[in-house]
Amino acid sequence: MFAPLCASLALMNSSSPPDSTLGLIPKPSSLVRGEGAFILSADTSITAGQGERATAALLAGWLRPPSGLALPIMTDRKPGSIWLKIDPAMRGVGNEGYHLRTSEKGAEIIAKTEAGLFYGAQTLRQLFPKEAFSAAAAPRVRWEAPSVEIVDGPRFAWRGGHLDVARHFMPKADVLRYIDRLAMHKMNVFHWHLTDDQGWRIEIKKYPKLTSVGAWRKDTMLKYSPATYSGKPHGGFYSQADVKEIVAYAAARHVTIVPEIEMPGHAQAAIAAYPELGNVKEPLEVGTIWGVIENVFNTEDSTIKFLQDVLTEVMALFPAKFIHIGGDECPKVQWKASRSVQAKMKQLGLKDEHAMQSWFIRQMDTFLAQKGRRLIGWSEILEGGLAPGAALMVWLGDDGAMQAVSSGHDVVMAQTSHTYFDYYQSKDTAKEPHAIGGFLPLDKVYSYEPILPKMTDEQAKHVMGVQFQMWTEYIASANHAEYMTFPRACALSEVAWSAKQVRNWDDFMSRLPKHLDRLTANGVNFRRLDPGTD
Ligand code: ACM
Repeated sequence: MFAPLCASLALMNSSSPPDSTLGLIPKPSSLVRGEGAFILSADTSITAGQGERATAALLAGWLRPPSGLALPIMTDRKPGSIWLKIDPAMRGVGNEGYHLRTSEKGAEIIAKTEAGLFYGAQTLRQLFPKEAFSAAAAPRVRWEAPSVEIVDGPRFAWRGGHLDVARHFMPKADVLRYIDRLAMHKMNVFHWHLTDDQGWRIEIKKYPKLTSVGAWRKDTMLKYSPATYSGKPHGGFYSQADVKEIVAYAAARHVTIVPEIEMPGHAQAAIAAYPELGNVKEPLEVGTIWGVIENVFNTEDSTIKFLQDVLTEVMALFPAKFIHIGGDECPKVQWKASRSVQAKMKQLGLKDEHAMQSWFIRQMDTFLAQKGRRLIGWSEILEGGLAPGAALMVWLGDDGAMQAVSSGHDVVMAQTSHTYFDYYQSKDTAKEPHAIGGFLPLDKVYSYEPILPKMTDEQAKHVMGVQFQMWTEYIASANHAEYMTFPRACALSEVAWSAKQVRNWDDFMSRLPKHLDRLTANGVNFRRLDPGTD
């Protein structure tokens, strides 16, 4: 069935014509249009064996409600069906790649793995009318998917989207929707920022006060200057049962959740729950203001043990190879003033507080490595030397990325300049909801190149990928988070997925309107394009 593919592959090259009418996002590596269309009708079935059944069920789950069609899943292939096939020996695509062909005769997706098959199914969904993204019934007698032949696969292995649920708690249903929308854009890592000064959001059975105390704050800063507050309590957390459900939901959509437990800074909520983890005698409350806060974990053995106990429960919930331990913005004021921290530094022969931070991170790195996991942390874990095996999430400058890759450490590129989606989307800030600052327009996101020009080929291999950040200091609802995330995440998905040579801003903008219609059908509260005011 795939014999003619090679002939048509020969026609494909990096300058394949813009796909302005199909509006596929992220753009596939290669696409050839054919004559006619595949018709989805009352006669259509999905052909899947055991290995393809989960993808078939997801595809049917997307298409059945809006189309009103039965779309039975069958093992026997019928003419005109959607045929899903995993062939581990297939050539010409990588592990997450796929071949997709649609024609009057049927639709076929073939991939080496379930992930590849899933991405092919996502592309097929985009070939149907926009209603394929709606949950509401909008039956037409038949849906057309134009005839195409697509060979596709990702550029980067780590295609991430982050969500800070510590500054504002987002209910489980919102988190599940967020994961769906990452998967829709072929993104495969959900970085879940679960703890911070203003809230601890994951149940830890051994330390129940982390959530009974640490998940609740009495007030919330609405504006930094002049300081304005909500005057209302805020809180919430995910039970371990919630977390298991979310992890399983994500895994079914080929999204790995990387949990982040912040240390040694951004720790005030935990210290409010368990004061013995801190450096000062006075009791603390869960934070209500934003910024870099001096209340950080102390360096006692008992604190290291406490955090390792937390990580033990976290590892039991999250199968991800990587566990994020934060590591950013840890002021050293309290460590400088603390007799016991200073005594510990002396005992360990550490020259300064940066070396102390490095020692702290190493305790976690060794612990995680013993359990077969890997540590990842923000740029500052470079201070005092990167622990062996640790990976760096680069949010600060290029220098840190270069230092990491040149010493053989893996990195994820997540720089403020191009990936902080809490920044304003317009220079005309008065027209936008209040934001933390900055200005990150869509074209700047699209222009992001995660491989730095000065990296050698060997160093570039350590760039695992790229991710966007959704910090929520001033974002109190999932609806507002969607406004900040889309369409910038559409642009970033292309940075992460599409081959560098097929990425082109004008071409992206010609495809985007059609994709935004899909997001509308899907109920996404994306920011409308208004190029006149940007
Ligand atoms: C960060 O934005 N503090 C990682």
